[in-house]
Amino acid sequence: MSEHVEKRAKDGVLSLVLARPEKKNALTGAMYDALVSGFAEASGDDGIGAILLSGRGGVFTAGNDIGDFLRLSDGLEVSPGGRFLQALATFEKPIVAAVEGPAVGIGATLCFHCDLVFAAPGASFQMPFVNLALVPENASSLLAPRRFGMAKASEYLLLGEAFDAAEACRLGLVNEVVDAARLHPHALAKAKALAAKPRAAMLATRKLLRGDPTEIVDRIAKENRAFAAALRSPEARAFFSAFLQKSKAS
Ligand code: COA
Repeated sequence: MSEHVEKRAKDGVLSLVLARPEKKNALTGAMYDALVSGFAEASGDDGIGAILLSGRGGVFTAGNDIGDFLRLSDGLEVSPGGRFLQALATFEKPIVAAVEGPAVGIGATLCFHCDLVFAAPGASFQMPFVNLALVPENASSLLAPRRFGMAKASEYLLLGEAFDAAEACRLGLVNEVVDAARLHPHALAKAKALAAKPRAAMLATRKLLRGDPTEIVDRIAKENRAFAAALRSPEARAFFSAFLQKSKAS
């Protein structure tokens, strides 16, 4: 378990809080492992009916740790991040997210897999893969066009620009924009409400809404192959090194 993921089970909800605020909650391998084990725990515990994801320090997450990107030489499937994508796509209970501040990369794409997403007015979402010489992950190349329509999916996946909470709400990525002070209690109340519903009906309804996960799992595998190749490209490695140099210099 990573000290950078706080875990708390109460009233049928397992809260998983990304807690590495000094690095904008950037996700390390240990954090992915902690999330995967949280998901497995929630899956196997009948007392848990929903997961709530959030971040400490007014930030959701700046995405994958860029230093880890530089070190990742094996395929994504065998990486902790790859295992997290698999767990997220195939998890059977409802997932709620409370997003404050930046949600970059996987921080934005994981919202496609959540059942309810609440965001503070200052939240910002960004899928900057192409800017970093990378390609989309987490089935975002499939789910963004479905959710946003092709025009907006192309805009946000090709230009890689950030969009705010109000735009995320218009696009259907976010259910509701909620004042920062009320965000966490509001999201927790909704997660509790989901957890308290008749369980079998909830799981069956969720399954019907989502359809067969095979298509999503297959797209993740296809994206992972392209992502792994892109990670090794000189362009991507130059972007990662420049980001880390800037961090050291400051
Ligand atoms: N991986 C590793 N470290 C990260 C990180 C990441 N994804 N995102 C932020 N950090 C670190 C910074 O290097 C900095 O470390 P330092 O204090 O040792 O210098 C610290 O977190 C604070 O980040 P900073 O950039 O100063 O904060 P900010 O408020 O100015 O900007 C972001 C916040 C999220 C906009 C900016 O950090 C960012 O763009 N991060 C990279 C996002 C990204 O490209 N993720 C990968 C997507 S595929």
